[in-house]
Amino acid sequence: ETIYLKDYTEPHHWVRDVHLTFRLAPKTTRVLSRITFTPNDNNRGDLVLNGEGLTLITATVDAAIVNMQITDTELRIAAADLPQKPFVFEAEVEIAPEDNTALEGLYMSSGMYCTQCEAEGFRKITYYPDRPDVMATFTVRVESDMPVMLSNGNPVAMGAGWAEWHDPWPKPAYLFALVAGDLLNHAGSFTTMSGKEVELNIYVRRGDEDKCAFGMQALKDSMTWDEQVYGREYDLDIFNIVAVDDFNMGAMENKGLNIFNSSCVLASQATSTDANFERIEGIIAHEYFHNWTGNRITCRDWFQLCLKEGLTVYRDQMFSGDMRSHPVKRIEEVLTLRARQFREDNGPLAHPVRPESFVEINNFYTATVYEKGAEIIGMLRRLVGDDAYRKGCDLYFERHDGQAVTIEDWLKAFEDATGRDLAHFAHWYAQAGTPRLSVSEAWEDGTFTLTFTQSTPDTPGQTNKGPQHMPIAVGLIGPNGDEVVPTTVLELTEATQSFTFDGVGARPIASILRDFSAPVILDRDMDAATRAFLLAHDTDPFQKWEMGRMLSRDTLVAMITTGATPATDYLDAIKTVVTDDTLDPAFRALVLGLPSQDDLAQTLVDTGHTPDPQKIYDAREALRHTLARHLSDEMPTLFSRHETPVFVPDADGSGKRSLRLSILSLLTLLDGGTAARNLFARADNMTEQAGSLQALLAAGLGTDELQAFETQWQNDRLVMDKWFMMQVAFASPADAASVAEGLTHHPAFTMKNPNRFRAVFGALTANHAGFHHESGAAYVLLAKQLIALDKLNPQTAARMSGAFETWRRYDTSRQASICSQLEQMLSTRGLSRDTTEMVTRILGDK
Ligand code: ARG
Ligand code: ZN
Repeated sequence: ETIYLKDYTEPHHWVRDVHLTFRLAPKTTRVLSRITFTPNDNNRGDLVLNGEGLTLITATVDAAIVNMQITDTELRIAAADLPQKPFVFEAEVEIAPEDNTALEGLYMSSGMYCTQCEAEGFRKITYYPDRPDVMATFTVRVESDMPVMLSNGNPVAMGAGWAEWHDPWPKPAYLFALVAGDLLNHAGSFTTMSGKEVELNIYVRRGDEDKCAFGMQALKDSMTWDEQVYGREYDLDIFNIVAVDDFNMGAMENKGLNIFNSSCVLASQATSTDANFERIEGIIAHEYFHNWTGNRITCRDWFQLCLKEGLTVYRDQMFSGDMRSHPVKRIEEVLTLRARQFREDNGPLAHPVRPESFVEINNFYTATVYEKGAEIIGMLRRLVGDDAYRKGCDLYFERHDGQAVTIEDWLKAFEDATGRDLAHFAHWYAQAGTPRLSVSEAWEDGTFTLTFTQSTPDTPGQTNKGPQHMPIAVGLIGPNGDEVVPTTVLELTEATQSFTFDGVGARPIASILRDFSAPVILDRDMDAATRAFLLAHDTDPFQKWEMGRMLSRDTLVAMITTGATPATDYLDAIKTVVTDDTLDPAFRALVLGLPSQDDLAQTLVDTGHTPDPQKIYDAREALRHTLARHLSDEMPTLFSRHETPVFVPDADGSGKRSLRLSILSLLTLLDGGTAARNLFARADNMTEQAGSLQALLAAGLGTDELQAFETQWQNDRLVMDKWFMMQVAFASPADAASVAEGLTHHPAFTMKNPNRFRAVFGALTANHAGFHHESGAAYVLLAKQLIALDKLNPQTAARMSGAFETWRRYDTSRQASICSQLEQMLSTRGLSRDTTEMVTRILGDK
């Protein structure tokens, strides 16, 4: 059942080309395949085809009936029964897309046919060697009564009731896609750097056609950026995007036919928040960038997932930074990295960026593979430098175009292009756990010395870890606030290592880990005054923000553990930044943001306390009130001065709205909701409509507005997801579980739509004090819902069970109630392989 990286062997057969015919029908789709196989001289053996849930009608080899062994998961033909030269395998199978609630393979969503094949969904469509190292050209004929029929590559021909597509680029089956439906397209075009004209389309359900313009622009910007920054040109005559309502993940990079969760592509001023716009732009870029990092060059096996995902996330992050603001983007990245990846790396689900084994690969589309994978690329770039980074990428593209490769191949291209030895750096891919870095400072005879010590904690299955090779970006600030040493990259390779700086005059204040140059936890003894000094004077925006964040964190920890009240110096330092008009409003909003409850829970564990979720919640609320009172004179002006009369979803506009709404949320604690109700009544965009409603809900108000919101948006699914989400997210700790439970009886609640399920239960697990309320009601509710969801959609159920991963943080009574729910899940008859693996790993050796 467990699959190991070390067991990789080449397939017995390669595929040259594939012809598929789909006769679409909701319950009785027929899939006809004609596949040319070539025996692999390196590894002779049986023909092994994956297949799950297929009804086989016929199968032949070179048009003749042969012996076959068919199980639940494969079709096998013995080597002895096969020609020792290329042969044609033909099959016809039947499948029922309408009954496919797992949303993997071919399924139906809002009346349209669509597919999701990554990672191993193609085997639910027909018999095939469903592994990424088997790359072939595909020709696809679709037959149905749907007006629009799409597949990968270029259109070949179409007529009444059929359409034919051909993809000239060899690809693994996970990149196959098919869509058929009554769809409208928003069209555009792009001229590539070599002058080729590409037709662009975003296909949507009727009624959504006015929500495509932003996505189309993001696509064009992505195409331009990849040409300019990576020299990568698009390679087909057409690029199609389709929006689908029911989708397990964000989106999928199928060759020439990207399929998107509608929430990750549809955008309009009235229905999307600034955060939605930013996310849509980033995901469109991400999927487009996969065309080179993922599709033209793909993964040899699924252990190499980070090869395409880490690199592509890094690329989309840089794109978003270029489109918007690098400092703001970097802070947002670190916030998610810490919230999701550090949390994962610190618990029972910790795994290396390149895992060594898995039971169900869908469980490894994780923050570690994606986000830590992207951090590795960022570190590599910082170590080799920008020019060498581009050279390494160029060599990688040139050397491996059309291949299915490994992390070793990626690193080798960099070694060859730069002459550097990356053997030590490669440990980042193998060693799980977040390194802890501590630093001490010394000042003697005009020399400033920084001494770093690093260690990485044990994680499941991994102990006694060695030091990592990491870039530490450092700058020095003089006592008068001027920078005396600009950003310098130190290369740490040892467990303990010192670096000296001469000729800096007076003893400087060090700014360490600028731009968050390595994904580590930095332990540094620093008093509040030094933090406030760097908050005021650091030239590195990330560290400037970080100092404010640490001040807030320490303030909250002191409030929770000793009942302290927030220091005036702290409140003044925050006020100074928030009211500094020379700073970007988006940055000021980020400084005003407080650490999350989940973050505080972990900080408490790290400092030897058992977190009490209610106390964390109360302290955070108390600090919000204190900040509101401390800023009360400035807030009305800050609020009115950052009004954006014309809505533009760019960095400037969203930054102003972000500051304005952060202020509104505090203001609402003082004014009884007047300002928020006003804004809610006249908002002409979703950012302000949802933002003002959330400000009310966060202050325990907003019942009428919630009702008005539902009345206005009851026919818009994506906005209704926000309505479901907000109520649970802002429910009081004692009410959260019952609010969520109540919403499952709402006529618009359905388990079959992952967005809707996540709106309610993702919000419940994100409501820290509510999820961990001492009643245990939320644990019971979530487990019950996941057991029910697992029967329909194992992938999403398994993913959401990760909410329990932090159970060891809490007191014995909470631990016991979580474990009993996890055990309840495990003892459920027929629990999926996906969820079984997750729950087993979460429980660990308990
Ligand atoms: N490759 C897709 C992306 O990064 C994610 C698809 C994952 N799907 C899955 N079933 N695990 O955008
Ligand atoms: Zn991706």
